[in-house]
Amino acid sequence: MLDVETIRRDFPILSRTIQGRRLVYFDNAASTLKPIQVIEAIVDFYKNHYSNVHRGFHTLSQEASQMYEEAHEVLAKFINAYSWDEVIFVNNTTEGLNLVAYAWGLHNINEDDEIVLTVMDHHSSMLPWRRIAELKKAKVKYINVTNDGYLDYDQLDHIITEKTKVVVFPIASNVLGTINDVKKIVKKAKKVGALVVADGAQSVPHIPTNVRELGVDFLAFSGHKMLGPTGSGVLWGRRDVLEEMKPFKVGGDTIRDVTLDDVIWLDSPWRFEAGTPNIEAAIGLAAAARYLMKIGMENVRQHEVELVRYTLKRISEVLGEEIKYYGPTNPEDKTGVVAFNIKNLHHHTVAKALDFFGIAVRSGMHCAHPLHYALKISYEEPPPAEIPKNVDERLKRFGCVRASFYIYNTKDEVDYFIGALTFITKVKEELARKPVEAVCTGT
Ligand SMILES: Cc1ncc(COP(=O)(O)O)c(C=O)c1O
Repeated sequence: MLDVETIRRDFPILSRTIQGRRLVYFDNAASTLKPIQVIEAIVDFYKNHYSNVHRGFHTLSQEASQMYEEAHEVLAKFINAYSWDEVIFVNNTTEGLNLVAYAWGLHNINEDDEIVLTVMDHHSSMLPWRRIAELKKAKVKYINVTNDGYLDYDQLDHIITEKTKVVVFPIASNVLGTINDVKKIVKKAKKVGALVVADGAQSVPHIPTNVRELGVDFLAFSGHKMLGPTGSGVLWGRRDVLEEMKPFKVGGDTIRDVTLDDVIWLDSPWRFEAGTPNIEAAIGLAAAARYLMKIGMENVRQHEVELVRYTLKRISEVLGEEIKYYGPTNPEDKTGVVAFNIKNLHHHTVAKALDFFGIAVRSGMHCAHPLHYALKISYEEPPPAEIPKNVDERLKRFGCVRASFYIYNTKDEVDYFIGALTFITKVKEELARKPVEAVCTGT
C-alpha cells in the first residue's frame, strides 16, 4: 500500500489553489507533477556540479559525466535491463519512437514490406512508421480495437504475415487505459521474424516493467510522465539490434573517430545520443526512478487499480446514464485512466467547468484521432453516424474527457470530482448556452 499522505507532502505544487480551490490534479497521463526530490536533484546539479559531459578532464566535467552515466544505470535498473548501455536518453517517447523508425526502419524496410500498427496508437507511435512506409513504399496494416476497448487479437493471424517486418503497439492506451497482451503480440511477431517496438509511455510509469520478460526489441517512454523533468525520456533497445543500428542523428559525441572519408561510431548508448545531452533532465529522471523504486511499482499499480475501481463504481452509482464511459470496465485490465463524456455536453466545456472546481483533466482526442473515429467517441448522443468529411467538423464533434491518476491522488479527490460532475450534469443545458464562469458562479 502507498502512504499517500506522506507522498503528497513531497509535491510542493499540491499546496497550490486553483480558482480559490485546492488543486486536484487528474492530468497525469499528459504529464505528472514533480516531487521535491526531483527538483532538488536538478538544482543540486546546477548549483554544485554543472558542466558539459564527456568533454573534459576537469573535476566538474568528471562529476557531471559520472552523474549522467549513473542515470543510465538507475534507469536500466528501473526496467530491469541487462546493462546500462541498452538505455538511450532521448527527449521524450516521441523522439525514442522516431529514433527506431529512422535508424532501423529506414535501413530495414523495403518496398512491399508490411508494417503493423494498431488503431489504438498514439500519433507518436503511428506517424513515424507511416512516414517510413511512404518513403520506402511499404504497406501499413492496423490491428483494430473492439467496442469494449481491447485490441482485436482474433485479427493477429491474418494481419501479421511473412511480409511483416515490424509490429508497433502501445503497451497501454493513453485514452482507454487498456493494458495490451504483450506476450500474445510478441509471440506472433517473432514467429514471422518481425521487430517489435513497444510504446511504453503509458505503461512504464504505472506498471512494473521488466524488459527481460517483455520480449520486445524496443521500448520507449517519457520521463515527464513518471515524475521526471520534461525533456527526459528513454529508448531501451535489445543489445544485438542496437549494435547493428547506425545513428539516427549524427554529430558530436556519437563517434570514436572521423577522417575526411570515414567515420567510426561509438557503441550504444553514445552512438544514439548526439550533441550535448539534456544532462539535468537525465539526472532528474534518475531521481524520479529512485523515488518510484523506493515506493515500489507494485504499490503504484495497486493504488491506481483501487482508484479506478472506486471511480467507476461512483460514476455508475451517482451519474449512471448521464455518462458515456470508454474502455475496459475491469480495473485490472487498465491503467489509471478514465475516459468519458457527459451526454450532449461538449468535452471542452466539461474540462473548463472542472477547472472551475480546481480539477485538472484533459479533453480532446488525446493525440489518438483514429481511435476516436473508430470507436465514435463523441459527446453527442447518439454519436455521429458517419465520420464527417470536413476536418473542422470532425475535430469539433469527436473527443472525450480524460481523468488520469497517479500516486498522490486519493479517493477523497475522486469523491470531489464526482460531486463536481454531478453539478455539471445538472446544469448542462445552461453550460451549453452560457459561459462556464457565469453558470458556475450563478451570475
Ligand atoms: C501512448 C503514448 N505514446 C506516446 C506519447 C508521446 O509522449 P511525449 O509527448 O512525451 O513524446 C504519449 C504522450 O501522451 C502517449 O500517451
